[in-house]
Amino acid sequence: MSLPKAATLFLLFFLLLLSSTTTSNAHNITRLLAKYPQFSTFNHYLTTTHLASQINRRQTITVLALDNTAMSSLLAKHYSLYTLKNILSLHVLVDYFGSKKLHRISKRSTLTSTMFQATGAAPGTSGYVNITNLKGGKVGFGAEDNEGKLDATFVKSIKEIPYNISIVQISHALNSAEAEAPTAAPSQLNLTEIMSKQGCKAFADLLTASGADDKFNENMDAGLTVFCPTDSAVKSFMPKYKNLTASKKVSLLLYHGIPVFMSLQMLKTNNGVMNTLATDGANSYDFSVSNEDEVVSLDTTVVTSKVLGILKEEEPLIVFKINKVLMPKELFKPVVAKEANAPEADAPADSEPADAEDNTNGVQGLGGGRLVMVVLSLWIGILLI
Ligand SMILES: *[C@@H]1O[C@H](CO)[C@@H](O)[C@H](O)[C@H]1NC(C)=O
Ligand SMILES: *[C@@H]1O[C@H](CO)[C@@H](O)[C@H](O)[C@H]1NC(C)=O
Ligand SMILES: *[C@@H]1O[C@H](CO)[C@@H](O)[C@H](O)[C@H]1NC(C)=O
Ligand SMILES: *[C@@H]1O[C@H](CO)[C@@H](O)[C@H](O)[C@H]1NC(C)=O
Ligand SMILES: *[C@@H]1O[C@H](CO)[C@@H](O)[C@H](O)[C@H]1NC(C)=O
Repeated sequence: MSLPKAATLFLLFFLLLLSSTTTSNAHNITRLLAKYPQFSTFNHYLTTTHLASQINRRQTITVLALDNTAMSSLLAKHYSLYTLKNILSLHVLVDYFGSKKLHRISKRSTLTSTMFQATGAAPGTSGYVNITNLKGGKVGFGAEDNEGKLDATFVKSIKEIPYNISIVQISHALNSAEAEAPTAAPSQLNLTEIMSKQGCKAFADLLTASGADDKFNENMDAGLTVFCPTDSAVKSFMPKYKNLTASKKVSLLLYHGIPVFMSLQMLKTNNGVMNTLATDGANSYDFSVSNEDEVVSLDTTVVTSKVLGILKEEEPLIVFKINKVLMPKELFKPVVAKEANAPEADAPADSEPADAEDNTNGVQGLGGGRLVMVVLSLWIGILLI
C-alpha cells in the first residue's frame, strides 16, 4: 500500500476525532438567565463570584434563583464577595429538582446537598438545604443550620432541562449562619511555585521567562488545567525550544494549558479534541485526549505524551505532570508528513526518553505498556488498510 493513502486515512481518522469536540458545556446558566431581566442581579453575581462556571461544569444541578428584589435585601447586608459566594452557593443544589419533584418530595421532607457543601467550605452538614412540602401545596426551603426555619417558598419554575439543569425561583434568600460567616479571600494559588516544587521547575521557569505565566494566571479563577512536562522532558526539548521565535515559544507554552477545569475523571470520560490557551482563530493549537484503562494520553499528531500524575487539584485549578513536551502541529512537522516525504528529518519526537524516576510525585501511577500497544496497533491497522 502507498504511504499517501495511509496519510489520507490518518487525516480522515483525525478529522473524525476533531468532530467530537469535548469542552462544550451542556448548559450555560448565564445565557439561560439572561432572558429574564428580573434575575439580572442574581445572574451578575453568579458571574462575579465564578459560581456560573462551576454550575456549567456540573451535569445535574438545580439553581434556586432570587429575583432583583430578593437580591437587593441580600446585598443590603454588605457581605464581601467571598461571603456572598458562600451564600449563593447554598442556593445551588447538586441534584435535579424540577417543579414536579419539588411538589412531591417523598415523606414530604428531604435534606439535599448544595454547592456550598460540595466545595468543602461548609462545616458539618451546614451546606444542606431542607425542602419540605407544606400545607396548601406550598414548598418550603431552609438551610439545614437555620434552627428548623424554612425562610423561602417556591415561586415558579423558570427553566427545566431534565435531568441536567433546573432553575426555580424562590421567594427569599436562605439564611445560614455558616454561609454568612465572614470569609477570607481564598489563598492565592501560585502556579509556578506549585510546579517548581514538584518536578516541573524547568517548565515553570520557561513560563516566567517568556511572560506566558500571565495568561495562565488570568485563567486560574474561571477554570484551568495545566499539563507540565517533567524537568528531564524539558531538558531534552531545549534545543528545539531555543530554535523558536519569542512568540512561538509563548504559543508552545500556552499549548500546555486548557481554559477549563478537567479532573482526571473528566479527561477519561471526555476523550477527544481539546482547545488550549494557544487556540486562536485559524490557529487551532489543539490536541486529542484518549485513555486506555488508567493511562491518559495527549496526542498532538507530532508527539504523544502520557499523564504521569496530579501535582495539584484544587478546583478551579488542576495541574498534571506529563512525560513529554507537547509539540503542536502548527510549529512542528507531524510524524505522518515526516515519514511520507522527509526521510532525512531529525529523530522522531516520540523517541525522547520518558523517565520513570519523575513518576514518583504522581498521585496516580499510570502504566504505559498498554498505551504503546494501542498506538502500535492503531498504526499497524492504518498501514494494513
Ligand atoms: C444533558 O447533558 C448531557 C450530557 O452533557 C447531554 O448529552 C444532553 O444532550 C443534555 N440534555 C439536554 C436536553 O440538553
Ligand atoms: C455563556 O453565555 C454567556 C452569555 O451568552 C457568554 O458570554 C459566555 O461566554 C458563555 N459561557 C460559556 C462557557 O460558553
Ligand atoms: C425540615 O424542616 C422541617 C421544619 O423545621 C422539619 O419538620 C423537618 O423534619 C426537616 N426535614 C428534614 C429531612 O430534616
Ligand atoms: C509565585 O512564587 C514565586 C516563587 O516562590 C514568586 O517569585 C512569584 O512572585 C509568585 N507569584 C505570584 C503571582 O505570587
Ligand atoms: C533549528 O532550525 C533550523 C532551521 O529551521 C533547522 O535546520 C534545525 O534542524 C533546527 N534545530 C533543531 C534542534 O530543531
